[in-house]
Amino acid sequence: MEPAKEEESSVQDEAVDKSNFKNCNHIAFYRRQKLLHPGKSLYQALLDSVTLCNDSVKLQIINEENKVPLLVEIYAIEGNIFRLKINEVAPLKSRYEVPDVLIKEPTTQRLSIAQKEAGILVLTCVGEDRKLHITANPFQIELESKGETILSVNTSGMLYFEHLQPPPQNSKTTAQKKEDTSIDSSQENQEDLGLWQEEFGSFLDIKANGPTSIGLDFSLHGCEHVYGIPEHAETLLLKNTSDDDAYRLFNLDVYGHKIYDKMGIYGSVPFLLAHKPDRTSGIFWLNSSETLVEINTKAVMEHVPSRSPPDITKRRVVPQTDVHWMSESGIIDVFLLMGPTPFDIFKQYAQLTGTQALPPLFSLGYHQCRWNYEDEQDIKAVDAGFDEHDIPYDVIWLDIEHTEGKMYFTWDKKKFQHPERMQELLKRKKRKLVVIIDPHIKVDPMYTLYSEAKKKGYFVKDRKGQDFEGICWPGSSSYLDFTNPEVREWYADQFSFKSYKGSTDILFVWNDMNEPSVFKGAELTMQRDAVHHGNWEHREVHNLYGFYQQMATAEGLIKRSGGQNRPFVLTRSFFAGSQKYGAVWTGDNVAEWSYLKISIPMLLTISIAGISFCGADVGGFIGDPEPELLVRWYQAGAYQPFFRGHANIESKRREPWLFGDENTQIIREAIRERYTLLPYLYSLFYRAHTTAEPVMRKRFTGASSH
Ligand code: NOJ
Repeated sequence: MEPAKEEESSVQDEAVDKSNFKNCNHIAFYRRQKLLHPGKSLYQALLDSVTLCNDSVKLQIINEENKVPLLVEIYAIEGNIFRLKINEVAPLKSRYEVPDVLIKEPTTQRLSIAQKEAGILVLTCVGEDRKLHITANPFQIELESKGETILSVNTSGMLYFEHLQPPPQNSKTTAQKKEDTSIDSSQENQEDLGLWQEEFGSFLDIKANGPTSIGLDFSLHGCEHVYGIPEHAETLLLKNTSDDDAYRLFNLDVYGHKIYDKMGIYGSVPFLLAHKPDRTSGIFWLNSSETLVEINTKAVMEHVPSRSPPDITKRRVVPQTDVHWMSESGIIDVFLLMGPTPFDIFKQYAQLTGTQALPPLFSLGYHQCRWNYEDEQDIKAVDAGFDEHDIPYDVIWLDIEHTEGKMYFTWDKKKFQHPERMQELLKRKKRKLVVIIDPHIKVDPMYTLYSEAKKKGYFVKDRKGQDFEGICWPGSSSYLDFTNPEVREWYADQFSFKSYKGSTDILFVWNDMNEPSVFKGAELTMQRDAVHHGNWEHREVHNLYGFYQQMATAEGLIKRSGGQNRPFVLTRSFFAGSQKYGAVWTGDNVAEWSYLKISIPMLLTISIAGISFCGADVGGFIGDPEPELLVRWYQAGAYQPFFRGHANIESKRREPWLFGDENTQIIREAIRERYTLLPYLYSLFYRAHTTAEPVMRKRFTGASSH
């Protein structure tokens, strides 16, 4: 969220106030899971329960303390992938399973039982050299390929599963408890664990289902390099985490986010890739609730059987990376991608979540944006400026000020009296317009979009069943429930030329603030106890909200063209699979050299996670870049997949010709270079679309590289 204007004195002052956001210790499910220490797992597999089905092997495991049985399902999926699902055998009610992210139900292969004795179950894949060793006590799984153990599950014993329970009798709110002096300390401890409610500052989250968190650890043998799990403003190579410092996957609006920090920012893709000289593997943790990932790369001793003399085993030190995933709710649903090459991994991940949508060619050109281009005159002048200075560009953008009072799908009637004519002028030069459409809808009965959505019951609800209301740009706003397919269809129809007055076929869309951003909400987002379609709490779907808005928008643009044209939709918030709907950018960066530097690992990481069409605001959104920084940023941006110059409302104008002839010349050359390379870039995108090769990528060599 942008701070109030009077607070914006310098970039320094504008940097993020981290106290608005949680650290790990503020997160109750993290504190609860941290009570479990690495060691022997509390879970045992009941090998008598093993059933071999056509598409999977099922078995039960039981927690030796609480005796609650869990159902484990293991699938072998075509193309060297395993899937592991763990859920309660008999939950009090259904637990959330992420829909709409997998492009189809994966094609399974038959598993057979090769061995079942002495507490060991060995499964093999028909006709393939892959094996799964399941140990009963403690419950562990090892994945083996050609005799080598690649990955093991629950080796550190961190399998954690909070089963649904009925609410405790006489549960009182915090306020009630404060008045009640009879509450004993054990009850207070419970509160500290945030089982049925959790506080953060003045915010209270009421948990209708109580504690529902899950966790599991994986050991990647021989690996010391792990990548992925965007979005963080961090290095490409993931770092070891320490206590209280996990990589957080929780979509948040973090204005001027810090760099070299593991806090959650706008998007989340729970996909991690592990690389060693002869093998790459991947872990895709399909869960859309808040997720924390701990990484621990260490050296371990490995026994190597030796031939001479035959009974002596040698030992050697090898690297190993342990990855511990924890999520607030849902089930354990994890895909283990076996590679073996990096490009196999990209394909396997795309086989599950889809490839990058092929962008329309124009969207690979240069985009000129600022918050805001003021009016039609301004648009005309900036457009003409590119011609006068002989700088190619394809798209000009309009931020929130183009609307009537921040009501999306409308135009400010004074500043944009003739939007169609403005677009016609751009169209004559084969140029396009992108406008912003955010997910919050101004609460105003006179605003048709609002009153229609309200009447139809299309807004997210609060826990009492009223339309959720929060503050965003227009003031009091409600939020469309994009998780509902009916809402998505209705929303898509809003993009028809008939509905969206003043729009033409050169108008494309930018979805912003869709984490979703709620200015006065806890961590500037929606309350977790808000309720979505199907009665699911917001906590279950949080990281999917932006994914669904972009999906509906892309669908709308496709429909608008009668299924003829590829859409262009930029989104700030994203999840696994967002690549199918368009482009993403890294949000509110700062006009400082360090942010230019971090944009490269950030984009590489997003690319590794399947989203090739990504970019960072050229010049840095917040503040004013010195001319050399701006020039260098153009030179870097020209080689990045999505290439857009953008600036904050408080920043000085920075169209490419405003910094003297010499700088104009260098920027012109950089942008022209981009256009020279356009056919090459388009081919790279074609390959991303067809064979899942990331457009921007580091060289994965045999030797370890950073
Ligand atoms: C936040 C976005 O990150 C930024 O790019 C945009 O200009 C502002 N919102 C205003 O819409």
